Parts: sequence; C-alpha cells; structure tokens
Amino acid sequence: MMKVLLTGGAGYIGSHVAVSLAAAGHDIVCFDNLSNSRAAVIEHVEAITGQPVPLVVGDIRDRDAVRGAITDHGANAVIHFAGLKAVGESVADPMKYYDNNVRGTLSLIEAMVDCDVRTLVFSSSATVYGEPQYLPLDEAHPTAVTNPYGRTKLMIEEMLSDIAAADPAWRIAVLRYFNPVGAHDSGLIGEDPNGVPNNLMPFISRVAAGRLPELAVFGDDYATPDGTGVRDYIHVDDLAEGHVAALDRIRAQDDALSVWNLGTGQGYSVLDMISAFERINNVRVPHRVGPRRPGDVASCYASPDRARDELGWEAKRDLDAMCASTWRFERTAAMRNA
Ligand code: NAD
Ligand code: UFG
Repeated sequence: MMKVLLTGGAGYIGSHVAVSLAAAGHDIVCFDNLSNSRAAVIEHVEAITGQPVPLVVGDIRDRDAVRGAITDHGANAVIHFAGLKAVGESVADPMKYYDNNVRGTLSLIEAMVDCDVRTLVFSSSATVYGEPQYLPLDEAHPTAVTNPYGRTKLMIEEMLSDIAAADPAWRIAVLRYFNPVGAHDSGLIGEDPNGVPNNLMPFISRVAAGRLPELAVFGDDYATPDGTGVRDYIHVDDLAEGHVAALDRIRAQDDALSVWNLGTGQGYSVLDMISAFERINNVRVPHRVGPRRPGDVASCYASPDRARDELGWEAKRDLDAMCASTWRFERTAAMRNA
C-alpha cells in the first residue's frame, strides 16, 4: 500500500485515478491549485470511494507547499497530472506553458528530492510522437512536437530521463496517453471543460444536450476510411487502472525510468464517434463538415503491446461504454445544476 500525492488530483484524469487508487487499497492526497477544476470534485471522489480524501490547495511551482503536503501526509509516491493542456492557448501564450508545466515539474521534483521521495508517475501524451511515421505508434517511434504544449511534455520527458540516469534510485513511469474520454459510471465525475470544448467528446456531449448548436467536423478529406480523423479513444477508467498498474510495476522493478503507451490500439473516426454516441444514447448530434484544424494528423493510434506485456494491463471498456458514461455525466451534471 502506497500513500500517493496526486498533483492535479481535482482534474479530469486525476479524479478518476484517485478513485482507482483507492479501490486498489492505496491512500491518496490531492494537491491542486484549482485553476482548471473545482474543490467539489473531491467531494464526489469521497462519495464514490466512501473515504475522506484530503485536498491541499496549492501550486506545484510553490516548492514549500509541495514539501509541506508530502511531509504532512507522509506521501511516498507522486502521480503528476498538474499542467495546462490547451494546444491553441500554448501557441498564443507559450511562456505560461513553460512556466506552469516545465518549471512546475522541476519545482515538484526538487520538493520530492527534499523529502526523499523518488517514485513518480508522469502524465505525458501521444502528442510527443508528432506526425506518425508508421502505425500503430509504439514507444520506439521517434518523437517530434509541433506546438508549445507538446514541447513541454517532451521537455519534461527528457528532463526526467536525465534525472533518472543521474540517480538510479528514481522509479519513474512516463505514461503516454492517447485520447482519454468517458466518465466514471456514477456520473459524479467526468470531463467538464470551461468555455467551448477543444476536444471532440465533450463537444459532442454538449451538442447532444443542446448546449451548443452543432459540431464542426474538422475535415473529411483525410486518408482514412471515411475521410475524417482517426484517434485511439480510451475510457478514462481504463486509463486510471493503467496508472495503478504502472505504480505497482515501477515499485517492483529496478529500472529508473520506463515509458508506456496507454491506448487501446483501436482507431475510430469522428463520424464513428458521432454515430456511436447517437445510437447508444438515443440522441441527435447535429454536425456539419468544416475545414481541417491546423496541426491535426489523419490517424493516431497506439500499440498497447508493451503495457500489456509489462504492466499486465489492457483497456477493457468499449466505445459504447465511453459514449454512455459521457452522456450519464452530462445528464447528472445538468440535474445538479438545474
Ligand atoms: P485537467 O485540466 O482536468 O487537470 C489538470 C489539473 O491540474 C487541474 O485540476 C488544474 O487545476 C491542475 N493544475 C494545473 N496547473 C497547476 C499547478 N501549477 N499547480 C497545481 N495544480 C495545477 O486536465 P486532465 O485532462 O485531467 O489532464 C491531466 C494531465 O494529463 C495533464 O498533464 C495533461 O497534459 C495530460 N494529458 C491529458 C490528455 C487529455 O486528453 N485529457 C491527453 C494527454 C495528456
Ligand atoms: N474534432 C472535430 N471537431 C471538434 C473537435 C475535434 O472534428 O470540434 C476532431 C479532430 O479533428 C480529431 C478528433 O476529432 O480528428 C479528435 O480531436 P481532439 O481535439 O479530441 O483530440 P486530438 O487527438 O486532436 O488531441 C488530443 C489532445 C491533445 C493531445 C492529443 C494526443 O487534445 O492535447 O490528443 O494525446 F496532445
């Protein structure tokens, strides 16, 4: 049993991982500056897990605050979700991203060393692969980034790799997420972005709910079966269980740093997602084909083999479960806010 500090623990992925860690018998403490989340999320995590979940409101760039949280709660591992993730915003305001993501991570690591904690799971992204040279993307695929957000993820990966090489006492898991979607079955926690969503699934959900008029499909002339972009959508609860498996694995192995893709290996197009959402939830998602979004690739999906072989983990939940749980969260939130 570990005592795990979750930076960004009130966020979309962090809150689901908190639930999975608790289910696996680990103790958790969340650390979040609430810049993109609300403290009420932690109450929902408590309702799901049936146990108190401490929340420390603080910023990862505040080394003393992180040190205090680790010491006060006796944390012996960190899962690091805290960061900014909007690609467009990172292009407009790169300094904000280097400060929050890169400086924030360095400060977090310094605080961990101060406290003699060297077990770390880091949220990276398939964005570090850039334009796919071949598919599926395995962990050996060359890295290349096309925007400041992606560059912060790659810079952090490289920084962690240097740190692990210099001090073999580190136990670091770099997890490259593909496209996390869906919500916990309770409908209590899920993805609830501020403003107009950038990502497909929350956009579909808001259109279905009538909160947005229609979805723009970003291009239908890609070299894919139906011309729309193909991605590897993974249920956030599968992703969460991947973190528990990675934490177990790094504690048991001698490698100072390991990299694992967390994806399903299965690609779905934008039109696949719309029709699955409509069918499973019996709703309409009005949509219209528009221009391509700059920077998008035609297809991106994982080879999940290394994670399966080394973590003994694979995604179990299908597209229907991803769509149904997204809609359940949307409806539950609507009832709560009514
Ligand atoms: P999120 O915005 O819901 O969660 C991030 C949390 O971190 C938020 O609660 C926010 O308040 C907090 N935070 C941000 N900066 C902080 C700081 N300086 N100090 C303390 N807390 C801070 O995002 P998410 O989707 O849960 O993503 C979690 C991580 O996974 C991020 O690092 C993101 O880059 C990465 N990731 C996400 C996706 C995705 O599609 N959601 C894909 C790949 C990687
Ligand atoms: N799409 C639309 N309309 C929309 C939104 C998206 O057609 O309104 C399409 C996109 O063109 C793409 C697919 O839906 O083909 C998925 O788009 P998302 O924005 O949901 O996801 P991306 O694959 O573009 O990017 C996500 C994260 C990035 C991360 C990347 C790889 O947003 O931060 O996955 O992990 F880098």
